[in-house]
Amino acid sequence: MPRAGNVQANALDVCIDEWVARLLARAALLPSPLRQDVLSGLTRFAAERNVAELPPQGTSQSVVDSLDDGVLSELGRSVGAMAGALPWEPTTRSDDDGRDLGLCVFGPLLGLDATQAGLMLVRPGSQYPLHRHAPAEAYLVLSGTGSWRFGGAEDFVPVEPGSIVVNNRADLHSAIAGEEPLLAFYVLWP
Ligand SMILES: [Fe+2]
Repeated sequence: MPRAGNVQANALDVCIDEWVARLLARAALLPSPLRQDVLSGLTRFAAERNVAELPPQGTSQSVVDSLDDGVLSELGRSVGAMAGALPWEPTTRSDDDGRDLGLCVFGPLLGLDATQAGLMLVRPGSQYPLHRHAPAEAYLVLSGTGSWRFGGAEDFVPVEPGSIVVNNRADLHSAIAGEEPLLAFYVLWP
């Protein structure tokens, strides 16, 4: 009989495979040379990741309660089902202490090295702070139609679940959740 944690780890592996496949399909439609950069970053992540190993117990943050509202988009429901087994943490970019913003960092779970990946969760009406970083980044929106600033633009525009959001290296970017929790899978590469 498999341990419950292993079942959730397997479920996470299946989800990650699906999310990467969706990101690759959407990245293929991006203009060049962004397309090549995103495709090579995603390929690098897929080659680097190992089978998921979850800690014996999940770690919750109060923002994770927002996943229980029954308002998740179809893509996000699989995360809602496994959320209790995942290690959530506050973001260092805010002092909200996990009330409004949460991250599930996949690096230690997948044995990542040069790439990074994880889940971002934003409580309805809250904003993930404007920030920039050296790696490039692609998000797959899993749930919630929020407003995103990304890709070097300065305006916030609505982005629907299932969409790809790409930030070039050092682009300032941010996201504001609408009436539903905003949940997204992200991958970063150097
Ligand atoms: Fe970012």
